[in-house]
Amino acid sequence: MTLRHATTAERGALVDLVLRCDETYRDWAGPELRLPSRDEETAHWHRRFADPLQRIRVVEVDGAIAGACAWTQARAAHGVGPPIPGRAHVSAMFVDPAHWRKGIAAALMREAVAAMADAGFSSAQLWTPEGAPARRFYEASGWTVVDGARLHMPELNLPLVMYETPL
Ligand SMILES: CC(C)(COP(=O)(O)OP(=O)(O)OC[C@H]1O[C@@H](n2cnc3c(N)ncnc32)[C@H](O)[C@@H]1OP(=O)(O)O)[C@@H](O)C(=O)NCCC(=O)NCCS
Repeated sequence: MTLRHATTAERGALVDLVLRCDETYRDWAGPELRLPSRDEETAHWHRRFADPLQRIRVVEVDGAIAGACAWTQARAAHGVGPPIPGRAHVSAMFVDPAHWRKGIAAALMREAVAAMADAGFSSAQLWTPEGAPARRFYEASGWTVVDGARLHMPELNLPLVMYETPL
């Protein structure tokens, strides 16, 4: 397992990774689920690569991307407002379903938490679907849910909850 920075040339591979993860949402989400198109996921990665503060790290297994984690400065108004002082935002955490439960997300998160602290942030936040099994990963990693923080994600047509952790 190799942990390294992603390159812009890997945008397509990152989109493929997320689309494979998105498919698994059918296992737990209700009929309201809407799966984002390739163009929508591509636009997300364009924005992440265009953000100079975004750190995009990947785990490579046997020469292919098996997982990715991205973080940046947290901003008010769901990412478009002014920076929230001292607060980082984890904008992506995805592991290829073929590699689940091998500790890949845990390794990415350990590194991200250390890097966010090194960068001077004192806390971090993230959004995840209310019904997602990913919540158990965040809880196992020591993150706690932020009471009352809710957001509807139109791309998935699902409610999101916020998690946070001190750094
Ligand atoms: C959530 C996700 C990133 C976890 O990745 P992973 O590499 O399989 O996680 P790890 O192997 O590092 O898991 C570490 C610990 O978290 C917990 N955990 C992880 N996935 C879990 C699950 N599906 N159910 C219950 N606990 C889970 C366990 O305690 C696990 O330790 P264990 O395997 O020794 O029991 C992965 O399932 C994923 O990409 N899901 C789809 C995309 C997604 O929902 N991302 C988050 C959206 S914001």
